[in-house]
Amino acid sequence: MAKVTIDNIEIEVPDGTTILQAARMIGERSKADAYVVPPAMCYHSKLKTSGGYCRTCIVKVTKGSEKDPRPMPKPVASCRTNVMDGMVVENTVNPELIDARNGVVEFLLINHPLDCPICDQAGECHLQDLSYENGKEASRYQFERRTFEPIDIGETIKLHMTRCILCYRCVKVAEQITDGRVHGVINRGDVSEISTYITEAIENDFSGNMIDVCPVGALTDRTFRFASRVWFTNPLDAHRNCDKCSGKAVVWMKGAEVLRVTGRKDMWGEVEEFICNSCRFEKKSSSDWTIEGPRKIDRHSVISQGHYTNKLQQKLLTIAAPNDPGIEPFNFNER
Ligand code: SF4
Ligand code: FES
Repeated sequence: MAKVTIDNIEIEVPDGTTILQAARMIGERSKADAYVVPPAMCYHSKLKTSGGYCRTCIVKVTKGSEKDPRPMPKPVASCRTNVMDGMVVENTVNPELIDARNGVVEFLLINHPLDCPICDQAGECHLQDLSYENGKEASRYQFERRTFEPIDIGETIKLHMTRCILCYRCVKVAEQITDGRVHGVINRGDVSEISTYITEAIENDFSGNMIDVCPVGALTDRTFRFASRVWFTNPLDAHRNCDKCSGKAVVWMKGAEVLRVTGRKDMWGEVEEFICNSCRFEKKSSSDWTIEGPRKIDRHSVISQGHYTNKLQQKLLTIAAPNDPGIEPFNFNER
């Protein structure tokens, strides 16, 4: 076990834990302390070898360990640096570190378009949150930006390369949970881009999970595009018997219509269990699902706002599962 102190909060964690995971353990122990958790755009707890690409999770190590107390000379990526016993880490309490992170965000935004008003990811975009918390009001960039035409990569996924921050999460999904990877990052440096092998379409049972792990709106669900702003939909936990995946999902409803289906995400906005494409793209009727109840979305207050009063919850359940004897019907004449 190793004792680590992050922003003056101490925690004991198993050896081999990264600084980011230790910070998340502090946040999970007490939500009031979750502010110490660095943002993470490329690390994803369910994807092996993720992390180390975006640098948004940088922290300052002011004491290396009990044995070797020397500070680390530069900020380190917390998702890729293991804790040592006696380590002291600064995140929110270090103004220089915050300034460095602001610089990282400025770099990420260099080529990112101000698409939020028309982007399907708006309201649940990690880059939107990040730039709100760590961004500058205006860009200092004066050169021409990279632009790409949106392309369909398969029947169900649209790629907006202009929005991509090259976090590699979709590549890890393709590598680790689909049968055959047909896309990746081609070229290097400022001409890198996500691409499929010439004219290949992404079509396999779990490819839709790329949409869920994409932290920005670069990969969007073609069956949901422009159907609704996400904050006008009501997320409900639901499950079905599925022979390919756990069948545990979130159905996003507007009235009695299921507008989209996604995986369930944890308090850090990362998918808990990957779902198959049949559940995601083909089961768009409320009768396909057993509704469990409203989904509590911790991370995105814009979605959670006002959806969870008891009356609204009951109304949603009545609409979603009108014949379920376990659900007390909502009186629609009641206001
Ligand atoms: S498309 Fe999305 S998930 Fe893939 S590398 Fe770009 S930002 Fe990351
Ligand atoms: S989350 Fe650590 S480098 Fe991206």
